[in-house]
Amino acid sequence: MAWRIYQYIRHLFYTRHRKGHGIHSPYLFEFVNKVLFNARATEAPEAIMKEHRKLRAAFAFARRSSVSMKYGFLLYRITSWFQPEMIIELGTGMGISTLYLSSGSPETPLHSIEGDKERAALAAQLICRCCPGPLSIHWGGMEEKLELILPLIPQRFLAFVDGNHHYEPTVDYLRKLMDRAGDESVIIMDDIYWSRGMHRAWKEVVSWPEVKVSIDLFHLGILLLRKDLHKTEIKIKF
Ligand SMILES: C[S@@+](CC[C@H](N)C(=O)[O-])C[C@H]1O[C@@H](n2cnc3c(N)ncnc32)[C@H](O)[C@@H]1O
Repeated sequence: MAWRIYQYIRHLFYTRHRKGHGIHSPYLFEFVNKVLFNARATEAPEAIMKEHRKLRAAFAFARRSSVSMKYGFLLYRITSWFQPEMIIELGTGMGISTLYLSSGSPETPLHSIEGDKERAALAAQLICRCCPGPLSIHWGGMEEKLELILPLIPQRFLAFVDGNHHYEPTVDYLRKLMDRAGDESVIIMDDIYWSRGMHRAWKEVVSWPEVKVSIDLFHLGILLLRKDLHKTEIKIKF
């Protein structure tokens, strides 16, 4: 805990670029202004927020381990902006982040993996109630299910990595996803300061040559792979 608090203070200290100040790449400037900090201009999916509120009131897991509304809405804005050919989620939980991801790009097929049977069932019920888009929840171990999904993944995808928060599996999943990625994919890693191991995984992945821009928002990190971007590491107070 003390380590996380120290890291948060450090993050605030090194934070720059709010509202895109000092960012020279037009693509990145657009991303920061129109996606990250554009919550007011984008229509909030009220039905999703309503479901989210209900789940938070009923389940400790939804309060403790799922994305908050602020970050769920950010996932929604990112998929709305990016419109990927496929969305991959590692760690469905009860399906809250799944709902935000899918609603942002409702035509896009989404594959999500969850190892806990009860949560996977709750997620399936949530998805049936809200019908956001074509999506499949794969119940089973992450390694096994990811191996099945990998051959289906197109080059232009968005992945949200939010399961099995340990250094080795995280780096392994990221490596596998990276090997499928064309130069436009977007990968979001949750909980990059959750532990020293997760932070080490984030730092390692950021150093890979395929990653052109990394955006550290403290609670999550965003990796942009576009080849025409210069290698840049940004920290933002979000
Ligand atoms: C942080 S929760 C996901 C929360 C969800 N993304 C959300 O924001 O609503 C992480 C999930 O990953 C699942 N998980 C962790 N390790 C796993 C593994 N090795 N295989 C499959 N699922 C795993 C857990 O069961 C848990 O539900």
